[in-house]
Amino acid sequence: MLKITFIYCFIFLCVEMNTRDEMLDIDEFRCICRALFRNDKGKIYSLSEMQLREIFEVFDKNEDGYLDKEEFAFCWNNWIKIVVRPISVFLIVDVQNDFISGSLNISHCSAQQDGTEVIEPINRLLDTVQFDAVFYSLDWHPSDHISFIDNIGQRELDPSSPVTAENAKVYDTVIFKGPPPMKQKLWPRHCVQDTWGSELHKDLKVIDNSIKVYKGTNPEVDSYSVFWDNRKLTDTTLCAQLRMKNATDIYVCGLAYDVCVGATAIDALSIGYRTILLDDCSRGVDLVDIEKTKNSVIDNNGVIVNSSDVKAMVEGRDRRPELGYKLAMELKNYSMDN
Ligand SMILES: *[C@@H]1O[C@H](CO)[C@@H](O)[C@H](O)[C@H]1NC(C)=O
Ligand SMILES: *[C@@H]1O[C@H](CO)[C@@H](O)[C@H](O)[C@H]1NC(C)=O
Ligand SMILES: *[C@@H]1O[C@H](CO)[C@@H](O)[C@H](O)[C@H]1NC(C)=O
Ligand SMILES: *[C@@H]1O[C@H](CO)[C@@H](O)[C@H](O)[C@H]1NC(C)=O
Ligand SMILES: [Zn+2]
Repeated sequence: MLKITFIYCFIFLCVEMNTRDEMLDIDEFRCICRALFRNDKGKIYSLSEMQLREIFEVFDKNEDGYLDKEEFAFCWNNWIKIVVRPISVFLIVDVQNDFISGSLNISHCSAQQDGTEVIEPINRLLDTVQFDAVFYSLDWHPSDHISFIDNIGQRELDPSSPVTAENAKVYDTVIFKGPPPMKQKLWPRHCVQDTWGSELHKDLKVIDNSIKVYKGTNPEVDSYSVFWDNRKLTDTTLCAQLRMKNATDIYVCGLAYDVCVGATAIDALSIGYRTILLDDCSRGVDLVDIEKTKNSVIDNNGVIVNSSDVKAMVEGRDRRPELGYKLAMELKNYSMDN
């Protein structure tokens, strides 16, 4: 708390000293950014000059090269306050028996990773970090789900499918007949509703007042992201719940890194959340795809960290410029009346 007060004072001072005429130029804004984007040990994160200017331009609505009082008020209320005091949600994706020791045990996949390894760091975060809300997603399929290889005979394939029903093997991608034709990777039967395989792993802590989100419940379409199914036909309740919590930051982790965790992180970014993917709390299927997931999160202005950085970030003592940049870009088209 003390640290937060300190940063507020520092920024006020910074503004106060430099705004005799109540106008803030880019150099003074740079000074604010240097105060803002630091870690808990005082190390200053660098922000490229180009990004600094881009952010400044978001707030300099009348493009006169200065932030006037009204422009700065908008910047303060919608940007600085969130950078300093984010509302942080922890989203733990699909830490379920089938992905760890059951039918889709990811250690059998090409990356040969061990799903149990995510449990300890996740539990530690739940014990030590005060998130504003905690969500657990569950892959939750009906028995006739389209993604199960043993259901391949239940639906017609499109002539364009690269693999026929007779030749299809697990992990192949087929195209089901539409309309519209739909790509689908074939998985072993997994996470069938109300079975042992779909239960959260017994060692995963489930904290009070947390919220469970069920996905993949429509037999006709798979759902990697916790937000929507793969065709965006229906959403889960996650969006509405995040809005209700006034969430600004989403920490995503779990199983599998390059499938549901990745899809969820990308969707969180696409709808405007500052998004942090937790590397050591996620395990995946394929090393190349894990690398692609990381690149795609970073390219979309997300951040990837290990769990040891999370507490300081949630408490607003470690403030990442990537997330500040992301939020500023989201504010680009906002009217100042908001
Ligand atoms: C997953 O499968 C591997 C290989 O068969 C096995 O060694 C491992 O114990 C399984 N994981 C768990 C947690 O049961
Ligand atoms: C979210 O923000 C609204 C508007 O500022 C406020 O009324 C509401 O109490 C906030 N909700 C929570 C859970 O903080
Ligand atoms: C997290 O820690 C692991 C193990 O020390 C390391 O290999 C990895 O690069 C770290 N990831 C990040 C994002 O720092
Ligand atoms: C802002 O508006 C421009 C022009 O209408 C659009 O191209 C851009 O995607 C919008 N940006 C965001 C973050 O909504
Ligand atoms: Zn599934």
